[in-house]
Amino acid sequence: MGKIVVIGSANTDLVVKTDRMPSPGETILGGSFMMSGGGKGANQAVAASRLGGEVTFVARVGNDLFGERALAGYRAERLDVRHVTRDATVPSGVALICVDGAAENSIVVAPGANERLSPEDVDRAEAEIAAADFVVLQLEIPLPAVMRAAEVAERHGVRVILNPAPAAAIPDELLRRCYLLTPNRGECAMLTGMPVADAAGAERAADALLARGVRHVVVTLGSEGALVKGAESCERVAARRVEAVDTTGAGDTFNGALAVALSEGRPLSEAVRFATAASAIAVTRMGAQSAVPMREEVDALLAEV
Ligand code: RIB
Ligand code: NA
Repeated sequence: MGKIVVIGSANTDLVVKTDRMPSPGETILGGSFMMSGGGKGANQAVAASRLGGEVTFVARVGNDLFGERALAGYRAERLDVRHVTRDATVPSGVALICVDGAAENSIVVAPGANERLSPEDVDRAEAEIAAADFVVLQLEIPLPAVMRAAEVAERHGVRVILNPAPAAAIPDELLRRCYLLTPNRGECAMLTGMPVADAAGAERAADALLARGVRHVVVTLGSEGALVKGAESCERVAARRVEAVDTTGAGDTFNGALAVALSEGRPLSEAVRFATAASAIAVTRMGAQSAVPMREEVDALLAEV
């Protein structure tokens, strides 16, 4: 079983279905409500665990009901939560999410405790990082903690997957420590200042990111699949046609799945195929963590022709 350390955000998602998004100043009546585990870090940790990884999660939650509920959820998902700190000074992270009829979402996050995840929190997990096959990071926690995680991983020769979400500028010092960067179309455009309208654009942008020191880039292109780029290689992985219900957290399932497949020693393009199948299932279900498939489901989908 691959050992994976995910360092990142923990949220509770409050999700409302709606036919359309409200305009500024407008009140509309939407549809059903659901509360689900969220946060890019937690989603990726849960995905990695359900898909067969042995996962340590490093995060901060508040000393409130949402934090308690989140922690209980992580334990139920068999995450090692010894490095999930309960912070009495701030509330737990919460995301307000609207999902419209086209399965599109808009999200506002109140980061709360996530904002207090520190380099020292990362240092406390050094032994777990040193023993890991992969460290998985996102940008929903303060950059100093992300930078420290990459530093500690490098010191122990552990490969880092950085999912640059939500989109933010990344110092080259961090990129150089990453084995793999996994931007979506928008994040890739933002990171490079280049248009990523199609696969050719994605390839040019991926090259620009490789030139800044990251070793591999996987650009996720939604229904157009993914572009897998290394210094001397370039491959397209096709998307699977599915009936999308809610794309929230699909990228997180993708990243968690990728970490699992890579930690099992699969080559990158094959790992991307596995991750594409996992996220294809996730978009057919409501919610973030609630939508993550089990390993058997992904293997079954991959066995189909
Ligand atoms: O990537 C999806 C996640 O972004 C949601 O679960 C929400 O909590 C926000 O962090
Ligand atoms: Na979903």
